[in-house]
Amino acid sequence: MSTSRSIERIIPAIRTVEGGGFVVHRPFPTRLLMDFDPFLLLDEMGPADYAPGEAKGAPDHPHRGFETVTYMLEGEFGHKDSAGHSGTLRPGDVQWMTAGAGVVHSEMPAEDFTRRGGRVHGLQLWVNLPQRDKMIAPHYQEIPSARIPVATSEDGKVSVKVIAGEALGVKAAIETRTPILYQHFSLKPGAQIELAVPRDYRVFAYPLSGTALYGPQSQPVRAQQMVVFRDDSDTIAVTAGDEPVELLLIGGVPLKEPVVRYGPFVMNTEEEIRQAVVDYQAGRMGAITH
Ligand code: FE2
Repeated sequence: MSTSRSIERIIPAIRTVEGGGFVVHRPFPTRLLMDFDPFLLLDEMGPADYAPGEAKGAPDHPHRGFETVTYMLEGEFGHKDSAGHSGTLRPGDVQWMTAGAGVVHSEMPAEDFTRRGGRVHGLQLWVNLPQRDKMIAPHYQEIPSARIPVATSEDGKVSVKVIAGEALGVKAAIETRTPILYQHFSLKPGAQIELAVPRDYRVFAYPLSGTALYGPQSQPVRAQQMVVFRDDSDTIAVTAGDEPVELLLIGGVPLKEPVVRYGPFVMNTEEEIRQAVVDYQAGRMGAITH
């Protein structure tokens, strides 16, 4: 039997304040890791407890050249965009937004939720688009919790929500522009996984709660630290200790294209960034009617 992928590095998430003032834990981009091709950013929103009237969000802002993937765990977020699209994300729901050529949207706690207060916990992943797809028309895949496929191991100790890609023989409902895997694993105490991952995918784990043992050396890693694996094997091994563990496994085939980023715009050249700023200022990404 071959050994599983070894660990290249472990990167603690930094705590920062985003948008209109909400707390996030961010493994990248930081000084230690600028991106993880094909991913540009991972933010864990909260977990944070808000008093009535206090919950914060990200008011109107544009995106061009990539995708934003929002996965709610607790709390409720409303979104609205310049194409007249709006909706509410509840726990377990996923919104996969392909910004493409450009969209202006807002991501704010749902009104009732803000009035009541409560806990906000969720994730936002930015998936880069390949050069050929950066200027496609924006679109959404909105998958409610009930439509996210779930797979369970034979011994019942491991379950996984398959947001993108395939795990334990179950395929995701969401389609991606390039090969991506995005999986939320729940491990019972003592659970072991040895998961098949294609050799050409770069993969990391991000534990949300509990300490588990990762890789062939069984290295203990606690929550809010990103585990970057080398691409030296076709499997990834994780073992839970005596507490339950929640973790994300995220990976994709690198685009290996130049990345030029300026806030909410991510393109391949400086000129394309200048054009994005001009187009946004000229209103060519639209505006939200309030
Ligand atoms: Fe956004």
